[in-house]
Amino acid sequence: MFFDRPASGELAVLVSLNFDSEAEPENPREFEELVLSAGGDPVAEITGRRSAPHAKYFVGSGKLAEIGAAIADTGAQLVIFNHDISPSQERNIEHELCCRVLDRTGLILDIFAQRAQTHEGKLQVELAQLEYLSTRLVRGWTHLERQKGGIGLRGPGETQLEMDRRLIRGRIASLHRRLEKVRRQRDQGRRSRRRSDVATVSLVGYTNAGKSTLFNRLTNANVYAADKLFATLDPTMRAVNLPHAGNTVVADTVGFISHLPHKLVEAFRATLEEAANATLLLHVIDASSSEMMENIERVESVLAEIGAADIPRLSVYNKIDLLEDSDPRVEYDAAGRPRAVWISAQNAVGLDVLSDAVGDLLASDQIRASCHIPASEGRLRARLYAAQAVLAEHRQNDGSTIVDIRTSRSTWQRLLKIEGLNSGKVVYETEEATKVADPEALGSVNF
Ligand code: GTP
Repeated sequence: MFFDRPASGELAVLVSLNFDSEAEPENPREFEELVLSAGGDPVAEITGRRSAPHAKYFVGSGKLAEIGAAIADTGAQLVIFNHDISPSQERNIEHELCCRVLDRTGLILDIFAQRAQTHEGKLQVELAQLEYLSTRLVRGWTHLERQKGGIGLRGPGETQLEMDRRLIRGRIASLHRRLEKVRRQRDQGRRSRRRSDVATVSLVGYTNAGKSTLFNRLTNANVYAADKLFATLDPTMRAVNLPHAGNTVVADTVGFISHLPHKLVEAFRATLEEAANATLLLHVIDASSSEMMENIERVESVLAEIGAADIPRLSVYNKIDLLEDSDPRVEYDAAGRPRAVWISAQNAVGLDVLSDAVGDLLASDQIRASCHIPASEGRLRARLYAAQAVLAEHRQNDGSTIVDIRTSRSTWQRLLKIEGLNSGKVVYETEEATKVADPEALGSVNF
């Protein structure tokens, strides 16, 4: 790791200020959770209000003395700010307090570093860390910096620093290239999924809402779930066969938090893009949290930021075992489409309700049909298989075949245009796969 990280249980003084210029006050509880999540042990919390950050120390001299006293009282080894502070402020405070300082971006990066699991996630974290570090590089080399300028002392110090900077720049460039390659591969995967019209269901939600637990339940995959923030860094994907919805890719995504520093949104773009390209979003909500409404808003605003505001979504109220009314249920909107479900991912309660609701939402965009394909139209049959549209096939004695298919409306329209269906030889029958089958929608069409 390139920069300091709190060892488990490291004693930390937390500093959280509110500035008059900020529309939304900082959330001290979330901050504390973040510190715990990073393995820190908050031993004191200093809060306050200022009109603007102090240029040299970020906080005023009175506050600085208060932090110093807290360090002396508690034996803390680390001061963590719930804000982004400049490299020079960080240096000045460290110098003044003789104690290590970490800011909010550094803290979040540290958590990301601990959680990154896939190759791409690790590259993203290293890149973000190096970019963060490159502005703070001088810090580890202060002893050399001091030598700068003196007669006979010019040279080695600066050369060393310059060399390190160059090495870091080179490493950053190489990481960019490797990430670009991984992104291209991911894009290709996404495109081929879209071509074959496999729906992608992305789990999004505030950190600790229970996404990984639900993902495991839905896919039986063993994704790391822990009672810590950001247990999920990398979007993990699994293909599953959901009742009523057929083949679906389920993707777990990074936990959202408020005030995710902008630079980090950019660094984790690929992770978040997975959510922005989903067919359906499952917004997992910790229904037992006292901050439930605020967390919903926070997630909504991140979704808007990554361009995912218009993707259909289902609210999944999780952890109902912790509520008084712990019955799983589903709620419909005015159009009769599922809007929200109540479940407990941990206890596997309400998963059938959820799965039905997902099936309903995906199926409302789907079409079912039965096609009679003559032996001469083998290509069409192959195309239907390639589109993963075939539910069942019944071979006939004359070499022809009847295939029952289910696919999205757009794939169906594309298939209608291709040779096989327009040749006048294929007979098909469709049934709108809506929740209540409409007998009027059944019809036989002969080209
Ligand atoms: P991030 O990766 O940080 O975004 O978290 P996440 O949303 O993936 O949450 P995760 O699945 O790691 O669950 C967080 C904590 O909530 C874990 O301790 C789970 O055991 C717990 N949890 C998940 N579902 C339930 C539930 O239905 N009931 C209760 N009581 N706890 C749950």
